[in-house]
Amino acid sequence: MSQQFKDQIALVTGGTTGIGFATAKALIAAGAQVIVTGRNPQSLAHAKAELGPKAEVIASDASDEVELKRLFVRIKDQFGRIDILFLNAGIAKFGGIPEASLAEFDDMWRTNIRGPWLAIREALPLLGEGASIVVNTSVVDIKGMAGTSAYSATKAALRSLVRTAAAELAPRKIRINAVSPGPIDTPIFGKTGMPAEGVAGFKESMITQIPLGRLGNADEVAAATLFLASKGASFITGSELAVDGGLAQI
Ligand SMILES: NC(=O)c1ccc[n+]([C@@H]2O[C@H](COP(=O)([O-])OP(=O)(O)OC[C@H]3O[C@@H](n4cnc5c(N)ncnc54)[C@H](OP(=O)(O)O)[C@@H]3O)[C@@H](O)[C@H]2O)c1
Repeated sequence: MSQQFKDQIALVTGGTTGIGFATAKALIAAGAQVIVTGRNPQSLAHAKAELGPKAEVIASDASDEVELKRLFVRIKDQFGRIDILFLNAGIAKFGGIPEASLAEFDDMWRTNIRGPWLAIREALPLLGEGASIVVNTSVVDIKGMAGTSAYSATKAALRSLVRTAAAELAPRKIRINAVSPGPIDTPIFGKTGMPAEGVAGFKESMITQIPLGRLGNADEVAAATLFLASKGASFITGSELAVDGGLAQI
């Protein structure tokens, strides 16, 4: 792979598994120094071992204001700046509106939208001209998928944040865009609250709806994220790039 991100400093929130982990690997392969965050001790240890010396793996809760502030102070002291910010940490809990849990609604709100909003605010002093932010939204920000009301609302809010932040950051020549995955085969489905048979059934039913006839993989989302972060996307801001096998496009 080309060294197109040589010596750039990239932060990937939620970079220990799934899409964030694949993106951290791709950024390192393209020459970047990467900082990844997560919470689960096993996933943090696994990421540290797999990503090697070009990754700083930090336990930090992306939904917690104090931990976010501490993270950005540490990055400032250790690296001085951020060139690429991938706001990827997210959680999904599924359930129909009548039975969905209010506590889970609040958790998703804190992690999926309040956290990224706070992270952008804390990161701003570290972002210079030419820096790029990518946030991870989802096809559900434009599709009505039963059982995902709270999760989808957080992602629609995140999509809106990209537009507003793009307007505010454009004068500083900082770009912000969204990558919008369709169903991607990552550990997230095992954390949604669905039983294992439910997860298998959900994946099968999604595949029947995806024009390309399969789930996506994390490397495919990583590739789109690297494009949005790259100089190749230098005239793109406020936009959303779907990586969904056509699910929400056709
Ligand atoms: N997979 C899909 O089909 C799909 C589709 C559309 C959008 N997305 C979005 O893609 C993003 C990544 O999901 P994924 O599919 O790669 O799932 P994943 O494998 O579960 O990865 C989620 C990552 O986020 C971290 N994370 C979650 N909450 C966190 C918090 N409060 N603080 C720090 N880290 C946190 C997790 O680490 P810990 O386990 O340590 O918390 C993990 O590293 C999410 O925003 C998700 O909404 C996924």
